[in-house]
Amino acid sequence: MSTAKKEIKKVTTHQLQEMKSRGEKISMLTAYDYSYAKIVDDAGIDVILVGDSASNVMAGHDSTLPITLDQMIYHAQSVIRAVDRALVVVDMPFGSYQGNSSEALRSAIRIMKESGAHAVKLEGGSEVIESVKRILSAGIPVMGHLGLTPQSIYKFGTYTVRAKEDEEANELKEDALLLQEAGCFGIVLEKIPAKLATEVAKNVSIPVIGIGAGSGVDGQVLVLHDLLGVTKEFSPRFLRRYLNLYEEMKGAVGQYIKDVKSKDFPNEKEQY
Ligand code: KIV
Repeated sequence: MSTAKKEIKKVTTHQLQEMKSRGEKISMLTAYDYSYAKIVDDAGIDVILVGDSASNVMAGHDSTLPITLDQMIYHAQSVIRAVDRALVVVDMPFGSYQGNSSEALRSAIRIMKESGAHAVKLEGGSEVIESVKRILSAGIPVMGHLGLTPQSIYKFGTYTVRAKEDEEANELKEDALLLQEAGCFGIVLEKIPAKLATEVAKNVSIPVIGIGAGSGVDGQVLVLHDLLGVTKEFSPRFLRRYLNLYEEMKGAVGQYIKDVKSKDFPNEKEQY
C-alpha cells in the first residue's frame, strides 16, 4: 500500500483565466469557517470567498459595515486551514481601504500575511483605483466588485437591482475596464441586469463572476448559507436553494431535546 499523499492541484488565478478562455464556467461560494470550508473544498469548488457577508451571516448584523479587519482575518485563517484546492479570496472590510492607498496596502498585507489567503476583493471602481494599483504593486492578486456594492448600502438606500439606467450602466462598464487595466484578475458583478453583465463579460478578458447577474458571465457566486437554506429570511429572485437546512437542523435539535427530556438519550450503548 502506498503511503504517498495524493497531490492536489491548487486553483490559481491563471487557471481561472484559462477557464474563461475555454468557456468553462467558474464556481465560487462563500465560507467563513473551517467546517463549511472543508465541505465546499472537498466538493470541488473553484473559488472560496471569505465574504464580508460574514457580518450578516455569522454575526447577525444588518449590513456588512461593522465587520472589522481582525474579524475578517480570523475567518480567513479558519477557512485556509481547511482548504487544499480552492483559490481563497478574502473581502477587505469597510474602512480598511477607502481612506487612502497606503492604508489599503497595509490592510491587504495583513490579510495575506496573517491568514495565508491567496487574494483580496474590494468594492468599487474609479474611486478605489489607486488602492487597487497599490495593492497589486505588492504582488497581491485583487478581485474587483461592481454593481450592488453592499458596503455602500447607505448611499444606495436599498438592495435593489443596480445600473438599470444608462448613466450608471456606462459608469459600470468603464469601471470594469479600469479594474482590468489596473491588473485585477477578476470582477464580481452583483445584482445588475443580465444583458449588461453579459456585455461586461464580453468586453473584458478577465473572468467576471456574477451574483444576480444572469448566465452570460464567466462564473457564479452565492452565499453558502443561503444556498443551503440555513438562512431563511433572505430570498431574492437570483437565489437557488438546494436544501432547507434551517428546518432540518431545527427538527434534529427538537428531536434531541425530546430524547433528553424523555430519558431516551443516552441509551445503554451510548455510555461507558
Ligand atoms: O460578501 C459576500 O458574500 C460577497 C458576495 C455577495 C459576492 O461579496
